[in-house]
Amino acid sequence: MALNNIDPTTTNAWNKLKEHYKTSNNLHMKELFGGDESRAERLSVRWNDFLLDFSKNLITTETLQLLLDLADEVELKDAMAKYFNGDEINQTEGRAVLHTALRAKKTDAVYVDGVNVVPEVFEVKQHIKEFTESIINGTSKGYTGKNFTDVVNIGIGGSDLGPAMVTEALKFYKNHLNVHFVSNVDGDHVHEILKTLHPETTLFVVVSKTFTTQETLSNATTIKKWFLQHATQEDIAKHFAAVSTNTEKIAEFGISEANVFPMWDWVGGRFSLWSAVGLSIALAVGYENFDSMLLGANEMDVHFREAEFRENLPVIMALLSVWYNNFHQAETEAIIPYTQYLSRFSAYLQQGIMESNGKSVGRNGKRVGYGTGTIIWGEPGTNSQHAFFQLIHQGTKLIPTDFIGFKHSLYGDTNHHNKLMANFFAQTEALMNGKTLQEAISELKDKGVPEKEIEQLAPFKVFEGNKPTNTILINKLTPKSLGALIALYEHKIFVQGIIWNIFSYDQWGVELGKQLAGTILKDIEGDGITSHDSSTLRLLQYFKS
Ligand code: F6P
Repeated sequence: MALNNIDPTTTNAWNKLKEHYKTSNNLHMKELFGGDESRAERLSVRWNDFLLDFSKNLITTETLQLLLDLADEVELKDAMAKYFNGDEINQTEGRAVLHTALRAKKTDAVYVDGVNVVPEVFEVKQHIKEFTESIINGTSKGYTGKNFTDVVNIGIGGSDLGPAMVTEALKFYKNHLNVHFVSNVDGDHVHEILKTLHPETTLFVVVSKTFTTQETLSNATTIKKWFLQHATQEDIAKHFAAVSTNTEKIAEFGISEANVFPMWDWVGGRFSLWSAVGLSIALAVGYENFDSMLLGANEMDVHFREAEFRENLPVIMALLSVWYNNFHQAETEAIIPYTQYLSRFSAYLQQGIMESNGKSVGRNGKRVGYGTGTIIWGEPGTNSQHAFFQLIHQGTKLIPTDFIGFKHSLYGDTNHHNKLMANFFAQTEALMNGKTLQEAISELKDKGVPEKEIEQLAPFKVFEGNKPTNTILINKLTPKSLGALIALYEHKIFVQGIIWNIFSYDQWGVELGKQLAGTILKDIEGDGITSHDSSTLRLLQYFKS
């Protein structure tokens, strides 16, 4: 069944939230905490080894209630049932959205067109297990009989960002294989990587859901040519694997059937790392760890499906985001993990969140009259503190920020970890409390700064504070907790798409540029130039001259 079509601005809750915003937008969080001993406890959720503290947000009990009412009025429960049941909620492409089936339990049943897809998912998982184990333990060897030392993932977008992010995130759990990622059609990218590799000991995994993506096919072709300078056509069977829904195109490329991993059209590229798209993850950290990541995601799926909305991590985070996006008119959100391992996390979520919810047409086919997809950005702390935190603290824009931290570091160096986490806690405290003019003046006085100088300097030392943050504190970065964390954001995306009444699972917006690039490539490689606006025309002439 299709998703319901409910313009959120027509709901009672939306209209009450508008009024509520007017009366509550000058509240300071400090005051909210001052009069309420139990605020932090009330506005926190503990789940497994996660603690979400969302008390440092610009909300009161009433705000939260109205946001929860909004979730009810847009019929979120009904939409969730359709999502998990495999209804065609990706309506503009006529597809179900079932990345959750990729991490289902063996005993679960998930139906697509009347067929339970779980057994098929488990067959592919078994193939991933056998294939990756044979590469890791050396049973499968390269064309000269040597063990594999390197793996190159060739893909872009969802066929690159997920595996690249997770491989980096789980580096601590890695084996001896060096995993590289080639994505950009920029030839310098692929050549830079090839220069470090030996064809005899390198495995190439071509990942493309469609197997028509220009970047991936160009890179795969360049790599194949390079490989064939050293080896024979038959050796391709040992050195190339592919992950795709397009088996015909894979066969044309010459990859042996035994190394082909299917994908399904009910898995969107940006949600596909749980499938064989995650082959390079399983190669890097071993199948057990890969499976453990799936288990973590599955546990988050169960939590999302079963927990009451006010205790539900993805629902709470999505509602807060709607509150800032649509009522406070915040345009961006920062995601700051306090671990270097998650250095690719916000880049990964940029695709997940912005490709999904960057839509301006509602499910009724008409332009929406309210803001949708938030702009996502971020870098790990503490590095980001020394880069862009100035703007979050003292700039003019409201930037709700997620702080993701861990109770334990992986190497157990408490000296470093305590410093890292002291910064983690200090930032959310500083963002909330700020520093008043009076406090700035007294600080300067205590330092013995002359009166005249204090007068000039103090305004610049003021922090308005009242900047909202979520704190996600997890026990430890493990494959399982990472799986749960990724799934948390996936479901947040879903909830926001439902509230905004948009289709989150297509991506027509990436098509136009691709089409035009096709025409322009002909202009670049041909004799003349077809008609363009005068700017594009002059640029092309200059480029060709
Ligand atoms: O950028 C558009 C897009 O279709 C993404 O959604 C997708 O992840 C990426 O291109 C790669 O597509 P494919 O896996 O088909 O090569």
